[in-house]
Amino acid sequence: MQFSTTTTDVSRIRSGCLVVGGFEGRRPTPAYRALDAASAGRLDAIARKTRFQGDAGKHLHVHALDGVTADSVLVVGCGPQSEAMTAARYLKIAGAAAGAAAGAGASSVTWALGEIEVDDRDAGWKSRVAVERLSDAAYRFDAMRGKVDDKRTPPPARASVATTRGDRAAARAGVDTGQAIAAGTSLARDLGNLPGNVCTPRYLADQAKALAARHPKVTFKALDEARMKRLGMGSLLSVARGSREPPRLIVLEYRGAARSVAPIVLVGKGVTFDSGGISIKPASAMDEMKFDMCGAASVIGAMEACATLGLPLNVVALAPATENLPDGNASKPGDIVSTMAGTTVEILNTDAEGRLILCDTLTYAEQRYKPDVIVDVATLTGACVIALGHHASGLFSNHQPLADALLAAGEHAGDRAWQMPLWDEYAKQLESNFADVANVGGRDAGAVTAASFLARFAKKQRWAHLDVAGTAWHSGKAKGATGRPVGLLCQYLLDRASEASA
Ligand code: BES
Ligand code: MN
Ligand code: ZN
Repeated sequence: MQFSTTTTDVSRIRSGCLVVGGFEGRRPTPAYRALDAASAGRLDAIARKTRFQGDAGKHLHVHALDGVTADSVLVVGCGPQSEAMTAARYLKIAGAAAGAAAGAGASSVTWALGEIEVDDRDAGWKSRVAVERLSDAAYRFDAMRGKVDDKRTPPPARASVATTRGDRAAARAGVDTGQAIAAGTSLARDLGNLPGNVCTPRYLADQAKALAARHPKVTFKALDEARMKRLGMGSLLSVARGSREPPRLIVLEYRGAARSVAPIVLVGKGVTFDSGGISIKPASAMDEMKFDMCGAASVIGAMEACATLGLPLNVVALAPATENLPDGNASKPGDIVSTMAGTTVEILNTDAEGRLILCDTLTYAEQRYKPDVIVDVATLTGACVIALGHHASGLFSNHQPLADALLAAGEHAGDRAWQMPLWDEYAKQLESNFADVANVGGRDAGAVTAASFLARFAKKQRWAHLDVAGTAWHSGKAKGATGRPVGLLCQYLLDRASEASA
């Protein structure tokens, strides 16, 4: 979708679908009132007749409204006018509006929701939200379809964000930021949605390489098995043993600040298919384990946005990529492997493979980069989905200011996380009779014990872990990757960038 801004009066917008708000009890917004006046009261009469009240989550789509030059008007319910318009509330309205606008069948959209005042948020943020939510709603994944006999309504090709003259510069900047983040999110969704037979470790590496080729400040490399062996990454290598596809440790480095500035390192779990290995998963919904590389996809997506925005930071994205399959050569329950950190791990369950590839990557990050902070992102545990459902990613950290910054970024971006504990007590569940640590700690607090396992490998580091098992993709009818937590990561990077330049 192409984006622009406009300062044209809403009643003079020449074509396409015009998106305006309306509050509960048919209380008008300025744009609604202008359109009602231009149509000599027709708009409100239709709202009354169709019983559209302006309730949140409801919308009214009116075509060919007399006196209005736009092809159609989409009135989006904004809920009660008297209640505070928080950022979270506005994000919900914008999401619903974007969904309705994308499905409206118009070739262009004019977005006039920026006139609604939002607590602590400016015009730049509002136009950025418009772009992100419209892009998300218009997203299609058709790469794997053969002959397309497409009966679906095509999404709009263009969108214009309405703004006042005074806010135009801010709105434009917001559109640019939104487009960069939307492109990163869309890349993450594409990578997530691709099937395991296409999106292999090698394919992921090739995509990362292509990203680096598009951005002069990004460099790419990938560590192969031989290199991993020399580095002592026995844990990462053990997961790949059952697969014919060789593993890769994908490395993207973005240089936006002086060499002396310690980088922010993002680590993403890249299991391109997780069958569970010898501790094999049940067959139902196993197809969804193609999404087990969504952490990797999100750090690659965040890197894409960061490079497009040219942020004044140094950022490294690391993605250990492998399949987890059963085979005569695969790891078995009871096997003991040694990590790059020098500790040994008893693999009691081969399905707890994410932590096995992440621990060596965390050690590599610490030794190679001396990072400012490390943030890892992983579809790590089903237990996290039980704990938090699909609304929030699980956040764990050994450094509270970092946790607070990530929570705030998620809140700001509409890509929430919720902090979970990492107390010492949980680490006991990982004691092994034979090795330094076991890779599973029983059913209780499964998301916490997984995080606690990772924490052992990040002790010298300000580190946070996002368990995105419940947020990285949707199941069911709308099955597909969400691109989360690209929004959160980008907001964190933007926040760090504004600190850096302040
Ligand atoms: N990739 C899965 C986690 C997962 C499962 C994410 C279902 C989303 C939905 C991970 O590798 C895994 O299998 N974890 C196990 C850990 C257990 C063996 C301790 C799990 O959650 O069952
Ligand atoms: Mn698994
Ligand atoms: Zn997994």
